[in-house]
Amino acid sequence: MLRSSLIILCLLILVCGSSLWANEKTEPVKVGTLTFRLPTVAGKIVELTEKPQQKLTVVCFLGAECPLARLYGPKLNEMSAAYESKGVQFIGVNSNQQDSLEDVKKYVKRYEIRFPMAKDYNNKVADQYAAVRTPEVFVLDEQLDVKYRGRIDNQYLPGISRAETTSHDLKQALDAVLAGQPVEVASTKPSGCFIGRVKETEVTTSLTFCKEVAAVLNRHCVECHRKGEIAPFGLTDYDEVRGWADTMLETIEDGRMPPWHASPKYGHYANARFMSDDEKKILRDWVAGGMPFGDVKDMPKPPSFRKGWHLPKIPEAVYEMRKKPFVVPKEGVVEYQYFVVDPGFKEDKWITGAQVLPGNRSVVHHAIVFIRPPDGSNFQGIGWLTAYVPGQRINMLPPGRGRKVPAGSKLVFQMHYTPTGSVQEDVSKVGLIFGKDEEITHEVFTLIGIDQEFEIPPNTKDFPVSAKVRRIPPQAELLAIAPHMHLRGKSFRLFMKQKEKSEILLDVPNYDFNWQHIYELSQPMKLDAIDSLEFTVKFDNSEENPFNPDPNEYVTWGDQTWEEMAIAFFEVAEPRKKKAKAKQKPKRQKKPTEAERKQRVDKFVAAFMKRFDKNKDGQVDLDEVPLAAQRYGRIRDRDGNGVIQREEIERLVR
Ligand code: HEC
Repeated sequence: MLRSSLIILCLLILVCGSSLWANEKTEPVKVGTLTFRLPTVAGKIVELTEKPQQKLTVVCFLGAECPLARLYGPKLNEMSAAYESKGVQFIGVNSNQQDSLEDVKKYVKRYEIRFPMAKDYNNKVADQYAAVRTPEVFVLDEQLDVKYRGRIDNQYLPGISRAETTSHDLKQALDAVLAGQPVEVASTKPSGCFIGRVKETEVTTSLTFCKEVAAVLNRHCVECHRKGEIAPFGLTDYDEVRGWADTMLETIEDGRMPPWHASPKYGHYANARFMSDDEKKILRDWVAGGMPFGDVKDMPKPPSFRKGWHLPKIPEAVYEMRKKPFVVPKEGVVEYQYFVVDPGFKEDKWITGAQVLPGNRSVVHHAIVFIRPPDGSNFQGIGWLTAYVPGQRINMLPPGRGRKVPAGSKLVFQMHYTPTGSVQEDVSKVGLIFGKDEEITHEVFTLIGIDQEFEIPPNTKDFPVSAKVRRIPPQAELLAIAPHMHLRGKSFRLFMKQKEKSEILLDVPNYDFNWQHIYELSQPMKLDAIDSLEFTVKFDNSEENPFNPDPNEYVTWGDQTWEEMAIAFFEVAEPRKKKAKAKQKPKRQKKPTEAERKQRVDKFVAAFMKRFDKNKDGQVDLDEVPLAAQRYGRIRDRDGNGVIQREEIERLVR
């Protein structure tokens, strides 16, 4: 069940430079060779002549399936509308061999592109401009002088969405030229996918698509890169793979694909995604050797995948996060959304299998369902029930294992949505399979290791924060580990300590907010011989971290992505406690006097006010309390008036 994966959002910058992508360097564009005449998807002709009628022309190289070209669609649309009256025309050009006219039409429709969008067969225009990636824009004046070339702005990088755009490169260039000023930054490095050029490379390899290449892709890519799955394009079709070849090699070389971030040196993980060096070499050599198709007879059988519910049985109960779809905007950053559902459980339940089924996988980045037990129930762990992360595999818990959901519990959906360039709707749901009380020998729950007290100084590159699991249940076994940080999270390392000995169990050298995996151990690990589970994370609050919203900030604990978290979740299974034991009355400590009690409460309330009443108006508004504290710290606005009152604070005093 939760033997799956992740949580949140951002990733690494593309640093390329290997000779493979030697065409990366921006070549100077010669004036006079930039005219073109191309068919548009609307069945018209779009032309750039030596004497354009508009003051400025923005030529935008775009791809139908490239994630960044999608995200920037709406922005270009808005800009073209805003600058039209100032004499600026936008022209979209699709030069990808793998994008058919139909694909481009779909792109135009879905992202409501209103400027002319042309198809550049055989990438002639891309060659004239020496354009390399999508999206990549060129600003030309009336003499067809290139005034600016490069990216649109710095909001999106592959896998990264900044909450705020801090460098509006294209806009600045347009404004400068329109004002008769020189363009300060006339060239930037575009980022995104390589243009899928037609290559007339001679065949120099015996490797073929049908024989070796399809087998590698089936093993490592096709689970996500096929029709209807989370990746934006399929890697099952020869033409498609040829068009994506350079970008494919780049993502593999960067370690971005297939997505997996643990070092192979430590621990054994059931859901690991590693490609061997030999497999990488097959792809590289095949691309360099002219990408021959081969003989269809050699084609391996396509792997089979399960759609929808992955659980071995149809879930016995299904709960939607809510009836009305949540509307995901086309661009920007959507804060976490929470939906509370009452499953109406009248008695305690044991869950042996659970799955979150996203309603719309193109926008659901991750979803976690938490159990929120009613006050006073006998409950361990943090209430994790199950999670969805892209590309996960869902299993039942091992036999005899179950998660307890006390009678009267609510289910809380935590949803993380990522806009994709068009408005989308989602209703996600969770499906549950129940176990019989007498069959459950082990209770599964999620422990947390956490440090909330750190403060990351500005402009620091490797700021370490360590934490440990406070109490390890003595007879428990460890099933899975999930590290969690935000945009400044850089690396994660988990140690098992036993007396003086310390051993690394999991090492994530390049933590990636975008792909937070739940690392499932190949074998459950007994914890009785371990004194403690401790981890060290490092934060990069320097300028070099492209996800960093602001390197000049002091950063402390918080739920928002510009704040930070240092958490690891541990899924463990513990033998069930005997009923009799639970009935034993705990030994009472001496009852505090009324005065002592009042003193304790007053002290707590004062500390609470000091910590959370940020605007110092003498009361704590709900939105002053970080969501994480609300979630993990039992802080609730019980009467729903938006303010945490004294009575509500008092209830927190144990
Ligand atoms: C677990 C799912 C998953 C697997 C496995 C996977 N991908 Fe992806 N891939 C994605 C998703 C999701 C995206 C879109 C990322 C985005 O929107 O930023 C993507 C994007 C890409 C891109 C687009 C370029 C980019 O910068 O994002 C390429 C190329 C790619 N994958 C290649 C591969 C190859 C090659 C493999 C196998 C070796 C592979 N992927 C395996 C999910 C997967």
